[in-house]
Amino acid sequence: PRKIIIDTDPGQDDAVAILLALASPEDIEVLGITAVAGNVPLPLTEKNARIVCELAGKPETKVFAGCDAPMKRKLVTAEHVHGKTGLDGPQMDDPTMPLREQHAVDFIIETLRNEPSGTVTLCPIGPLTNIATAFERAPDIIKRVQEIVLMGGAYFEVGNITPTAEFNIYVDPEAAKIVFGAGAPLVVMPLDVTHKALTTHNRIDAFRSMHTKVGDMVAAWTDFFERFDMEKYGSEGAPLHDPCTIAYLIEPQLFAGRHINVEIETESPLTLGMTVADWWRVTDRPANALFMKDVDTSGFFALLAARLARL
Ligand code: BDR
Ligand code: CA
Repeated sequence: PRKIIIDTDPGQDDAVAILLALASPEDIEVLGITAVAGNVPLPLTEKNARIVCELAGKPETKVFAGCDAPMKRKLVTAEHVHGKTGLDGPQMDDPTMPLREQHAVDFIIETLRNEPSGTVTLCPIGPLTNIATAFERAPDIIKRVQEIVLMGGAYFEVGNITPTAEFNIYVDPEAAKIVFGAGAPLVVMPLDVTHKALTTHNRIDAFRSMHTKVGDMVAAWTDFFERFDMEKYGSEGAPLHDPCTIAYLIEPQLFAGRHINVEIETESPLTLGMTVADWWRVTDRPANALFMKDVDTSGFFALLAARLARL
């Protein structure tokens, strides 16, 4: 199995990503889950991460709290999408499993230094503050990263928090610039992919008909998530963004994209946080990312349903 650290701001779609990883031990070993401020403030994201681990029946999973604000900016949150708690939808009890004492950034640095070089994959599915802070503080770890597989950005699908920016990149563009410029192998799941992973009524029913606690929770979460996006976009369902990263680690052939140059806009007030993706290769800037564009949607949902049914 591939060793990963999930860096996250749960978020219903983050929660599904965590469940998919924890349900797939033959493919993925979760070394730790590092929470960051994003969809909701840090005290909620770290708590939500623990709720999800307990729901998966894996309270031994290590969960760490990281940065509570972007590197240089005020936190922007997304309660309008995820609700007040970040995991609105079903009724949930507070978690009883502990939060680890170590700071998430220290855990990321220590893990990359202690594990054999090239054997740890980072899976960021929230703003990139924890990862960039670790890279700034300990540049020696960058060359030890096997791969970064993140959810963030957009090209053809433009933006979801501003007309040109996707939420995770927009919240901490300086952090994103550091991560995209670090030189580590990078796979990006932008809105171009995730807007094809839509939770339709049939797909939500499939979760519910598992007749498990996990199935019921995922159905309630995605149902809640959907109502918000349906009103806004009138699409046939709501995007299940973050699980695309974990699905890629399990079945990479479900996704297709291009090795291209992607730069992050950090200055223009109009396009702050835009992922300037050289899709047509019209510059000579070197490729720094495998920027995905397509997903086999039915294959993705089949994988998700099969794995979640195990929990
Ligand atoms: C991203 O922003 C968050 O709201 C989601 O959890 C996802 O990581 C999508 O833009
Ligand atoms: Ca997220």
